[in-house]
Amino acid sequence: MNIRFVCNGKPTEVETPPMARLLDVLREDLRLTGSKEGCGEGECGACTVRIDGLTVMSCLVPVYQVHGTVVQTIEGLAADILHPVQAAMLAHGGAQCGICTPGLCMSAAALLESDPTPSREAIRVALAGNLCRCTGYQKVIDAVAGSLVEDR
Ligand code: FES
Ligand code: FES
Repeated sequence: MNIRFVCNGKPTEVETPPMARLLDVLREDLRLTGSKEGCGEGECGACTVRIDGLTVMSCLVPVYQVHGTVVQTIEGLAADILHPVQAAMLAHGGAQCGICTPGLCMSAAALLESDPTPSREAIRVALAGNLCRCTGYQKVIDAVAGSLVEDR
C-alpha cells in the first residue's frame, strides 16, 4: 500500500504492507531511529510519537492509520536548537542509558503544549506511560519542571 503523510514537516511516501507497524516503518523504511523499541507491546512508551498532535505508541499503530496525517518523531522535536525539554533533560541528568528518553521527551513536549505550567503531579501523570529503568524518575520530573523555569 502506498502511504502518504507528513513526517516531521516533510511530505513523505512509503510503499509498505498496510499492517506494518508504524515503529518499523519509521525506523527501517525512513531511517528515523530515534523512536526506540522496548517492549513492542504498548507497555513501555519508548516508541512514543505524535500523530496529529496526539501521543501514541508507534509499536501498536498499523501504518495505514497514518495515511493523510501529520506525524512527529523525536527527530522533528528540535528545530535549529534543542527543544526546551531536551535541553533540560541534558542539564538535569534526566537521561542515562537513553532508551526511554525520546519517548519521554515526546510525552513531555505534548504535556507542555496543553499545560505550560504543570504541577509535578501532572508531570507524573503525563509521563506514566513512559517507563524508565535507570533514573528513578526524579531527574526526569526535575527536568520537565526545570524546562519551564529555564524557558521563562
Ligand atoms: S515499544 Fe512500544 S510501548 Fe514499548
Ligand atoms: S535512561 Fe535508561 S531506561 Fe530511562
